[in-house]
Amino acid sequence: MVDGIRFEEDEHRLVRACINTPRAKASVYLQGAHVAAYQLAGGAPLLFMSGKSHFEAGKPLRGGVPICFPWFGQKSDDASAPMHGLARLLPWAVESVTTETDGSVTLVLRLESTAETRAIWPFDFTLRHRVTVGTSLTMTLETTNTSDQPFTFEEALHTYFAVGDVRQVSIAGLAGVEYLDKTENLRRKVQDAQPIRITGETDRVYLNTRSTCVIDDPTLNRRIVVEKSGSDTTVVWNPWIAKAKAMPDFGDEEWPGMVCIETVNARENALSLAPGQRHEMQARIHVEAH
Ligand code: BG6
Repeated sequence: MVDGIRFEEDEHRLVRACINTPRAKASVYLQGAHVAAYQLAGGAPLLFMSGKSHFEAGKPLRGGVPICFPWFGQKSDDASAPMHGLARLLPWAVESVTTETDGSVTLVLRLESTAETRAIWPFDFTLRHRVTVGTSLTMTLETTNTSDQPFTFEEALHTYFAVGDVRQVSIAGLAGVEYLDKTENLRRKVQDAQPIRITGETDRVYLNTRSTCVIDDPTLNRRIVVEKSGSDTTVVWNPWIAKAKAMPDFGDEEWPGMVCIETVNARENALSLAPGQRHEMQARIHVEAH
């Protein structure tokens, strides 16, 4: 096994990879290929993880980077299907671990369709999630259609960032972009020229954008830069007060400490793959001091 990675059961008996390199450390749960923590050596946690999160087989973690696949949000033709799809609920297999020349470590996890997934979504697929832990956190979700027919899917790297106080941050990169406002029944709006300020429940699906987003956090004195490729949708989410209270796996007072900037393909940016075809969506995240 490669230096800098260790697999262990956490106190809830879920298996995770603990990655420790000279530059950064991270933990990745096999359930959901879920990156639960990342921080630079000597730095503060980049990702938010709720103190109320479930850590249970078959339940999503609240925080870190859940993977949504093959649909985002509610399944369009079945409201009783699991929210955000199947991938975050299932155990993934370890495919490989490698050390890069710059000392960063790459873990590749794999999920294949099964009779269980076909019962809910009738297609065959292979997902690979490549997580590289170094001076940046790079996550690449690769989807291959292994069916004998085409399929259409949605996907997200539903990244929860830790912030000092969400009311003080500003988010740049989405000026002029059209979005669907999920807090107003998917009303279509256009983002104005100013960086986004969070002043209430925020749940927005920005469409047709490949832009880099930057979270400026004056409380933690840092900027978080989210670059992406293979993704045409960006989702910005903070539940604010009432929704935080309504979620059993999220602390009532935790909402000021997080914001999600999600690397996504959803809604009119859903993707179709022919048999044998493959798609990659990548998020590259790094932090800069003020
Ligand atoms: C966001 C969605 O991405 O995820 C929100 O836009 C949703 O509508 C949120 O509430 C959290 O979803 P879940 O299933 O993890 O509670």
